[in-house]
Amino acid sequence: MSATQPSPPVNTSPAHDRRPDPGLLKQVMSSFCTGIAVITAPGCDSDPRPAGMAVQTFASLSLDPPLICFAPARSSSSWPRIRDAGRFAVSILAEDQRELSARFAASGTDKFAGVLWRPGGNGAPVLEGALAGVECDLETELPGGDHTIAIGRVTALTGPREAGPLLYFRRNYGALGPAPAAPEASGPGEGRGASAESASSARSASISSASLRSAS
Ligand SMILES: Cc1cc2nc3c(=O)[nH]c(=O)nc-3n(C[C@H](O)[C@H](O)[C@H](O)COP(=O)(O)O)c2cc1C
Repeated sequence: MSATQPSPPVNTSPAHDRRPDPGLLKQVMSSFCTGIAVITAPGCDSDPRPAGMAVQTFASLSLDPPLICFAPARSSSSWPRIRDAGRFAVSILAEDQRELSARFAASGTDKFAGVLWRPGGNGAPVLEGALAGVECDLETELPGGDHTIAIGRVTALTGPREAGPLLYFRRNYGALGPAPAAPEASGPGEGRGASAESASSARSASISSASLRSAS
């Protein structure tokens, strides 16, 4: 008998053969629950109307310097206008602002019609009722496949307002709900203290069954 171990399989197929199925990729990535933000920019010379788009790719990037990022699709018609403005505001949506998310996700409509907003210090619209607002200068943009990675330098902050966040999970909107009841204590001294306290004050996520649209 030979003592030679079989060689481990070597994947020599080119990268494009190892691409995951796009449908499965979307399905798996949609398991990462996020909040939702609306990115807005003031009108500019070429187009005096403000621009805005809903994103779930908003993230805090750096504290020093203060940077945030988000990823607009290359197909977005709002992103070039936000880029041209060179400054923008991020309105982090509250749980009662689903309608605003859907409105700012629709292309080719008057997204601001009937929407209450006020101009931030940099002139970009900050949506009324948002959990918090972040004003930014566009710092840089990087290529990210069919998206662009936009990095903003934070110049002003508003809020946060006392309310729950709007969540997005597997193409459904959701909100934080009351936590499930803590299990019954099984004996004296058990089930009390910090864990019982955190259970009563914690909120768990309940995702609505209303499927609205798939994110980009
Ligand atoms: C919950 C949710 C999250 C979204 N996240 C993103 C995102 O991160 N990046 C993006 O480019 N589009 C995202 N979209 C889609 C954009 O909002 C939409 O394509 C865009 O606003 C279309 O309008 P426009 O052509 O004016 O840019 C998201 C939509 C929804 C409903």
